[in-house]
Amino acid sequence: MRVVSGIQPTGNLHLGNYLGAIRRWATMQDSIEGEGGECIFFLADLHAITVFNDPAELRANVNGMAAALIACGIDPDRSILFNQARVPAHAELAWILNCTARMGWLGRMTQWKDKAGKNREGASVGLFAYPVLQAADVLLYQATHVPVGEDQKQHLELARDIATKFNTDYGVELFTLPEPHIGKDAARIMSLRDGSAKMSKSDPSDMSRINLTDDDDAIVQKIRKAKTDPAPLPDSWDELADRPEARNLVAIYAALTDRTPQSVLEDHAGQGFGAFKPALAELLVQTIAPIRSRLAAFSADPAAIDAILAKGSARAADIAAPTLAGAYQALGLPR
Ligand code: TYM
Repeated sequence: MRVVSGIQPTGNLHLGNYLGAIRRWATMQDSIEGEGGECIFFLADLHAITVFNDPAELRANVNGMAAALIACGIDPDRSILFNQARVPAHAELAWILNCTARMGWLGRMTQWKDKAGKNREGASVGLFAYPVLQAADVLLYQATHVPVGEDQKQHLELARDIATKFNTDYGVELFTLPEPHIGKDAARIMSLRDGSAKMSKSDPSDMSRINLTDDDDAIVQKIRKAKTDPAPLPDSWDELADRPEARNLVAIYAALTDRTPQSVLEDHAGQGFGAFKPALAELLVQTIAPIRSRLAAFSADPAAIDAILAKGSARAADIAAPTLAGAYQALGLPR
């Protein structure tokens, strides 16, 4: 079993990242012990540059995001933690796989369509080829499990298509087909201001998301102001089908308490949001406060973070080397 996943080092870690992915990275890290195999987690800084990023900010964000992952329970002694730019094999394999992926496949990616919008001619080639780099990220390590939120599912299906085509074209069994590992109820945490948009780092309104750096007051305020409707909570999850904002808050509550949304509703049925929101805010404060204080402690020592990433990247490069060599060999490229 080999678990591989990444996160872009832009902005702060938010509740969607945490419940949709990072918290599960930490549980997988804990459960893999004794089973053999390893967890490989990285900061996707090469993905971040597909749109313009201020270099000084990006540099700070790489360290900041690494500290945030450690604060969430990723242990650099047990998991391999690094940033992509330090392991050139990612960019190398991405180039090779650019020659396997088809324009049509990439053109169908919903994230490309959303991000490029109407300005496709002005988008970077990197933004278009973004999912190919993501395929390289997982194929390089023969990943078996890739824990991600729902929004990354299409990219991972593409990685499987690219792996299959490469293996077939060159008559090799080089790449393992990765399995997306998507949680059930927290796979898509929505914006607090609009139940039809996912919670995202790029939303201009900070009120739309809970950041893991938010202080207790900010968390309480954001939940108090979260968009809802006037109806009380029903006793069945199905009845929330047409109430996306209410559904989102119940799903967050359920994820934080490791329960099903249905069982949360059974306890809170008949309650209005005037009562439910403070309970949810309290839970969030309890979850986030310890992460925030660990994060502050780690952030105070950027040299230590840098050393962790340097060590992680050396371990990652060793694991990646045979697969990259296998790809060059399959292609008939002497080195
Ligand atoms: P990124 O940086 O946007 O998000 C990191 C992880 O958080 C999940 N996520 C969410 N889950 C639930 N609800 C939300 N609102 C929410 N927002 C984000 C994402 O699904 C993701 O798991 N392209 C990737 C990074 C990447 C990667 C990879 C992931 C690069 N290479 C290889 C896996 C394997 C990205 O931009 O994630």
